[in-house]
Amino acid sequence: MTFTWESNARSYSKSIPNIFKRADGYYLYDEQDNAYLDFLCGAGTLLLGHNHPAIKNAIATITDPLMNHLDLRTSAESDFSKTLLSVLPFKDKDDVRIHFCGPAGGDAVEAALKLAALKTGRAGVFAFHGSYHGMSQGALSVTSSNKARAAGLNSKSDVTFLPFPYPYRFPEGLNTEEEAVDFCLAHLKLLLEDDHSGTALPGAIIIEPVQGEGGTIAAPKRFIQSLRKICDDHGIVLIFDEIQAGLGRCGTWFCAEQYGVEPDIITVSKGIGGGFPMALIAFHKDLNCWNPGDHIGTFRGQQYAMTAGKALLDTIKEENLTENSATQGKYITSQLEAMQDAYPDLIGEVRGIGLYIGVEVNKDVADPTALSHQIQQAMLSKNIVMERGGRQSSVLRVLAPINITQDICDIFLGSFEESLKEVHKANLSPKVA
Ligand SMILES: Cc1ncc(COP(=O)(O)O)c(C=O)c1O
Repeated sequence: MTFTWESNARSYSKSIPNIFKRADGYYLYDEQDNAYLDFLCGAGTLLLGHNHPAIKNAIATITDPLMNHLDLRTSAESDFSKTLLSVLPFKDKDDVRIHFCGPAGGDAVEAALKLAALKTGRAGVFAFHGSYHGMSQGALSVTSSNKARAAGLNSKSDVTFLPFPYPYRFPEGLNTEEEAVDFCLAHLKLLLEDDHSGTALPGAIIIEPVQGEGGTIAAPKRFIQSLRKICDDHGIVLIFDEIQAGLGRCGTWFCAEQYGVEPDIITVSKGIGGGFPMALIAFHKDLNCWNPGDHIGTFRGQQYAMTAGKALLDTIKEENLTENSATQGKYITSQLEAMQDAYPDLIGEVRGIGLYIGVEVNKDVADPTALSHQIQQAMLSKNIVMERGGRQSSVLRVLAPINITQDICDIFLGSFEESLKEVHKANLSPKVA
C-alpha cells in the first residue's frame, strides 16, 4: 500500500512500517491479528500497557462527560489533582501549585519556561546537550538535536547548551563518572561566575535528570545535587522535565526522589492522562506570579483524561508498580549486561534506572546507526516493537509498561539475545572504525 497523503516528517512508521489495528495489554495486533510485544508504548506513555482494565472501567463509569471544560472546575479534576499532589516530589504539598497546559508535553515545557522568565525577569535559559523537550518553538529552542533544530525555526535565541555528564561518549580523560561530573560542573560555574563569559545570568535551567530521547542517560546524583545548589546560589529557577521519566518509569514516582532534590517546577505529561492527552506543570507557590489568563488554552480540561489519570495513579499505588518497575528493570538490565559481556563488539553500554533502559551499541563500530537499526529490525522480525534514540540513533530503548511481569521480560530478553546472535553472525557491521 502507498501512503501518498503522509507528511515526510512521520518518523516511527519509517522503521516500524506495520499497520496495527488493535491493542490489548502488552501487545499490539496488526491487520492479520499477529501479536507484537510493545516495548515502545507510545514512547513511554502507556505505563500500564494498552487498555488496562482499571482505566477502561474508570472511563466506562463516566456518563454525560464534559468532553471539554477549559479550566472550569470539575469533580474529576479535583479528584485527580488531590491524587497527583500526593505523589509529586515536593515534601510540603500545601506549597505546590498545579497548572494544566495544552495537552502535549511540549505545552508543559512552554509553560515552565514562560513562568520562570516572568518570575525572574530573565528570559535566558540553560539547557543540556542530549536534551529533548518537544517540537513547539520554545521547547525546540531548549532541545539539543541539531537535526531537529535545523528543521524548525526555534524561537528563543537566549539558550545556552551545557554538557551533560555522559562519560561513555566524552573525550579521553573525562570517561569516568567523577571526571565527567567535575567537567560539567566546572563548565557551568565558569559560565555563571566569569564576568567575561559572554553569557547572561539565565532565569531558568531546564534538565531531564534522566535523559530519555538523548539516549537514556541518568545524571549522577552529585551532578543534580550540585545543580540544585548552584540554582539556589544564583536565584535560577530549576525545571525538571519528567515528562518521560516520571510516574514510576524510573522505579520511583519521579526520579527527583532518587536525587533527593526538589525542583522549582516539574513538567508532567505522557502517561499522566492514562493514555489520553494531558500535560501540566507543578511548581512552588513562590513562583505563582501569573495573573488570571496569563497562560491559557482550549484543551486544558478533559474529563476522560482526568478520570483515566486518576485510575492510573491509583493503580500504580495499589499495585506498588513503582517497586515492580525497579525490580523488573534491575532484572532486564542485569540480563542485558550479561549479553554485553557476550557481545562486546555489538554492545557498548547498558544503562538502566527502573524500566528506563537504554542499550547503546558499540560507539566504535563503523556505523552505529546501521548496527542499532539491524538489531531493531531483528527484534521486529520476532514481533517485538522497540525504538531507538540517542546520539546517531545508537541506543535501543526499552520502554516497557511498568506493570510488566518477569515472563514478559523473558520473552523480550530471549528475542534480544537471539537478535544479537543473528546480527553478530551476519557480520554486517561490527567492524571497528
Ligand atoms: C522529556 C520530554 N519532554 C518533552 C517531550 C515533548 O512531549 P510531546 O511530544 O508530548 O510534546 C518529550 C517527548 O518525548 C519528552 O520525552
